[in-house]
Amino acid sequence: MKFFVDTADVKDIRELNDLGLLDGVTTNPSLILKAGRDIVEVTKEICSIVEGPVSAEVTATEYSAMMKEAAALSKIADNICIKLPLTLDGLKACKALTSDGHQTNVTLCFSANQALLAAKAGATFVSPFIGRLDDIAVDGMDLIREIRQIFDNYGYETEILAASVRTVNHVKEAALIGADVVTAPPATLKALVKHPLTDKGLEMFLADWAKTGQKIA
Ligand code: E4P
Repeated sequence: MKFFVDTADVKDIRELNDLGLLDGVTTNPSLILKAGRDIVEVTKEICSIVEGPVSAEVTATEYSAMMKEAAALSKIADNICIKLPLTLDGLKACKALTSDGHQTNVTLCFSANQALLAAKAGATFVSPFIGRLDDIAVDGMDLIREIRQIFDNYGYETEILAASVRTVNHVKEAALIGADVVTAPPATLKALVKHPLTDKGLEMFLADWAKTGQKIA
């Protein structure tokens, strides 16, 4: 499973990348707002840190304007993945951009039929939003399951990018179902390592080791 981090915070991205945990980055207009930086400047910096795809989202809602924004975003770096909303115009732009050799991420996916359309448009990634479905009392994980089955039924190569991930259990369940990628906030990715028995066990080993009076090397 690939791990993307869902942030435009360069410090967090650098830290996770240095740990060797990152396969890519996803950003969105809200995350750019949170970072408080110019989209081109911050995206360029992110692309220089991470080798994998960096999703940068268009903000236009009409096809021609989306294509214009996509052209500007794709000039930032070779690893830019153009993020498009799951609308008819977004799907049309996805088809055109994919045919032109660009990586695409169709975002704001909340139903299996929407994901099917994204696959038919040739999207590199489709982003079903787990947490936002959970927020309205719909099981977001059921959507990942349905999309996995549909893509497997037809051999679609579009990768399922589980998004709007809020908990470590979301990551585990998405992995069990077979999502290709998970994008999660930095804190959630770092929390994956945590287990109280690991901390307790390490504490005990270190205490016993100190009692031996030995040193390695
Ligand atoms: C995905 O690409 C989105 O940026 C993100 O996962 C949205 O998550 P949120 O619902 O926590 O805002």
